[in-house]
Amino acid sequence: MTSRPPAGPIPPEEATASSASPDAQLGAREPIWPQPQPFTANLLKRFSRGLGSWFGLLNEWDFRIGIGSTNVLGLEMVLVNRPDLVRQVLVEEPEAFPKHPYTQWILEPLIGQGLFAVNGAEWQRQRRLVDQALQVTQLRRVFPLMQGAVQTMLERLENQGSAASPRPAPGLGAGQADLTDQAGQAGQAGQAGQGKEADLCFDAQEAMSLVTADVILRTILSRPIDPCEARTIFAAFARYQRRASLVMVLRFLRLPKPWLQRLLGADAGLIRSWIAAAIIERSRSQPGLATGTNPVAGHQDLLAALERAQEPPNPPPSRGPAQAAEGPAEPPDDPQAGMAESSGGFSQDELVDQVCVLFLAGHETSASALAMACYLLARYPEAQARFAREIGQVRGGSPSPESAPSPHRPLDYEDLRSLPYGAALLQETLRLYPPLSFFIRESQAASQLGESRCPMGALLAISPWVIQRHEQHWSEPNHFRPERFLADQASDGDKQWARDAYLPFGLGPRKCPGAAFALQEALLVLAELVSRYELLSEPGQEPELVGNLTLRSRNGVPLRLRRRP
Ligand code: HEM
Repeated sequence: MTSRPPAGPIPPEEATASSASPDAQLGAREPIWPQPQPFTANLLKRFSRGLGSWFGLLNEWDFRIGIGSTNVLGLEMVLVNRPDLVRQVLVEEPEAFPKHPYTQWILEPLIGQGLFAVNGAEWQRQRRLVDQALQVTQLRRVFPLMQGAVQTMLERLENQGSAASPRPAPGLGAGQADLTDQAGQAGQAGQAGQGKEADLCFDAQEAMSLVTADVILRTILSRPIDPCEARTIFAAFARYQRRASLVMVLRFLRLPKPWLQRLLGADAGLIRSWIAAAIIERSRSQPGLATGTNPVAGHQDLLAALERAQEPPNPPPSRGPAQAAEGPAEPPDDPQAGMAESSGGFSQDELVDQVCVLFLAGHETSASALAMACYLLARYPEAQARFAREIGQVRGGSPSPESAPSPHRPLDYEDLRSLPYGAALLQETLRLYPPLSFFIRESQAASQLGESRCPMGALLAISPWVIQRHEQHWSEPNHFRPERFLADQASDGDKQWARDAYLPFGLGPRKCPGAAFALQEALLVLAELVSRYELLSEPGQEPELVGNLTLRSRNGVPLRLRRRP
């Protein structure tokens, strides 16, 4: 991304990578990642590769520098890698570096004026309301919803395993546009061969999209997702993502915004009208909710909570960075307290925007993380075996009083708290494959970032993808080593960088409010899948990673599943 030599290299005291020895168990093989271009690659070449994926813009320097900049057709683009500067932008001075207008107009057709893209006082108002509503997603409360979706996924796999006839593995030569077809073929799995115990072909990307969309729909609207509707929505969003990347690059050429937004309109319209219809359908099942006349009765889902959420008459001016970074505020003792004096919540139009944000932010990112976790488990059988052993030990331990004492009983809420290796696996997955690989901010005024002068209007790119693979932060940055995140095995360097150079959920007041939800969901999905199946690589088929709005694979994540005895 940068073309000038770095304006602010990482100071030597920060530049010492951890000296932890490589994990011999997992071998020296790196998991796949799109290699950056050589430093000598010219800007034109990088931009043409950037049309299809953000990763095409990066060169090898970007993974070594603290801060660097390049000027593209008059727009100053600054890549900020140094942890102290990242904190300055995201945590200490977020008002000086709001979300870049590109974020807003790329997402506007899809989420309107929803929380993810707005800035300033409007963002503060929305965030207070959404944080209030997200109290209903307390982890223990949503756990049964997650369990329901995971059991449905497992049943689907069982049925497909016994019903499917042999067919080629999904994802072969398929572009993202072909997701529809892949999903249509018996969901995600077919048999990889004849015979009762044949392995199942399994597109982890598609399967994980389905289970995470199911979880979030149960959470927002109290109902499961139908695989057919899911298929249509995923295909529309995949097209939207591809076009959004193209549109972003075309915008650099100053093409008019309305013209570019039209390119995104059809797919956005399809997704929004599906969500609007689902809200109406759900509100019909509980009359009064959609009109706000029955705000406290009935459903306890996220939609009901969004409808109920009210601004207090004198809201606090803003949540400080430290508070907001903690995630949603603590629930009040009485959830209805202050409602009588409240001064406004979301309008009906805004509700559609917020449900779009929560549906998309709430499943697309988790699906990306889970698909890559499946890929890593298949690629590193030793890690998978260790995880399977850990699950076995938890299951073998004393089950909660309500659970049946069977080795295949569903994992319960407490079980998940006893899977440190599983949790480390997920953290390492999010380090290597952060679902949101780039955040962009705008410098509202000329500012100083370390030794670098940043002009007004500059586009600041903060990239978990780059920072979490940075050569001066992480030892063996491109290797898979979950032990980095295990308290008793991580080196001091690992621990430091896990604190300072790890931001898959962002930082500061705009940090993801769904992080704990996502981690619980992901661990449950993986643990139940690995309990029942061994995940195996599909020889000769590697995911082809692209960085658009989220990190996805062009050809799915084709794997095989083998039933465990
Ligand atoms: C592995 C899963 C997830 C990842 C990696 C992730 C990552 C992120 C990141 C990096 C941001 C901040 C972006 C920025 O600063 O520009 C963010 C914001 C957000 N996320 Fe997540 N997220 C995940 C799951 C979820 C879930 C499950 C929900 C909802 C239940 C959610 C809801 C949101 C919302 C509403 C925002 C906007 C917050 C704001 O602008 O104030 N996310 N997410």
